[in-house]
Amino acid sequence: MAKVPVGILGATGMVGQWFARCLEDHPWFEIRALAASERSAGRVYGELVRWNADGEMPAAVRRLPVHPVDPGVFSDLGVRVLFSALPADQALVAERALADKGFWVFSNAAAFRMDRLTPILIPEVNAGHIRLVERQPSRKASGGFIVTNANCTTTGLAVALRPLQDLFGIRSVVMSSYQALSGAGYPGVASMDITGNVLPHIQKEEEKVELETKKILGVLAPGGAVRPAAFDVVASCCRVAVRYGHLETVLVGLGKDFDEGRAREALGGFRWELSGRLPTAPRRPVIVRDEPDRPQPRLDCDAGSPERARGMAVTVGRLRKAGRRLRFYLLSHNTVRGAAGASVLNAEYAKKLGYIG
Ligand SMILES: NC(=O)c1ccc[n+]([C@@H]2O[C@H](COP(=O)([O-])OP(=O)(O)OC[C@H]3O[C@@H](n4cnc5c(N)ncnc54)[C@H](OP(=O)(O)O)[C@@H]3O)[C@@H](O)[C@H]2O)c1
Repeated sequence: MAKVPVGILGATGMVGQWFARCLEDHPWFEIRALAASERSAGRVYGELVRWNADGEMPAAVRRLPVHPVDPGVFSDLGVRVLFSALPADQALVAERALADKGFWVFSNAAAFRMDRLTPILIPEVNAGHIRLVERQPSRKASGGFIVTNANCTTTGLAVALRPLQDLFGIRSVVMSSYQALSGAGYPGVASMDITGNVLPHIQKEEEKVELETKKILGVLAPGGAVRPAAFDVVASCCRVAVRYGHLETVLVGLGKDFDEGRAREALGGFRWELSGRLPTAPRRPVIVRDEPDRPQPRLDCDAGSPERARGMAVTVGRLRKAGRRLRFYLLSHNTVRGAAGASVLNAEYAKKLGYIG
């Protein structure tokens, strides 16, 4: 089977580099176009980029030129699938224009997440929301569409909430985060601000978690938009001096009385019908640890199997019942499960359903 040529927008940045990592030797997709700002356009990727993702820079991108975000260039290169790691303000203009021209955009940016016709897709959680793209005007006019993935802090939370909502119903969610530096891009937070310190403010992060979680776990009304989940979400987000991995404490008010063992089984036994059956879909979306000092960013960030799904599993630990509430810690890889890996999985699912390819 010939591979589908793809492009990366914002290829030089933190998430762009993780796209190059997550797409390395991908069985279905082949990177053919890299794009960034006018500042980077015309340069060779391997000479321009200060590589930050794991391991060595993939050979497949090292000699590729960096282009501006230009639909004509992508068409000339035979690319119709675009993975976007653009800043939200750039994404707002560029992604819509690209979808209007017939491109299939899988975006990490916040620009369209709360748009009523754009899904925030996490296949394990809300696979059916992909059908929203059929209602996008660009889909009807040129075939193009936008699919977003959630904010990096929201993603792990939503994955863990899905089995709890299915089994017990959810009344409320309180979440506090300890978020990695890589979540702020490169070079990100000034070292003088974060060394020996914790920053209790990440711009718009708490609002994103509170709104996105309810949309993701909401119900897609037939022929309509998503009706958000009815429970409240309260989020408090901090930046800590960790490289990768967002740690969260979660307190979930459940709809009925429950047994701690059943909650543990619900999380650890959670599967989606295609778990382990798409290249980037982890066999176990949630891994439950019983040790009292797990999960930890350094030890659990890369959880997930098979090898291509490394970093795609969410790790949960210190599960405890507190009345009708369940308490736990949660960890997910912010640039894989919360960004590039999430978009790649969305594109795999879209291809499996025949939306692209
Ligand atoms: N970091 C995370 O964990 C994470 C997680 C989820 C979502 N996101 C979202 O993903 C997006 C990228 O984040 P990041 O952390 O990768 O940021 P970043 O490291 O600052 O990278 C930004 C990228 O966008 C490019 N860019 C900037 N201005 C541009 C313009 N006018 N036209 C075209 N390209 C432009 C940059 O190219 P140059 O090098 O040429 O400037 C660079 O490639 C953001 O929307 C962010 O909110 C990030």
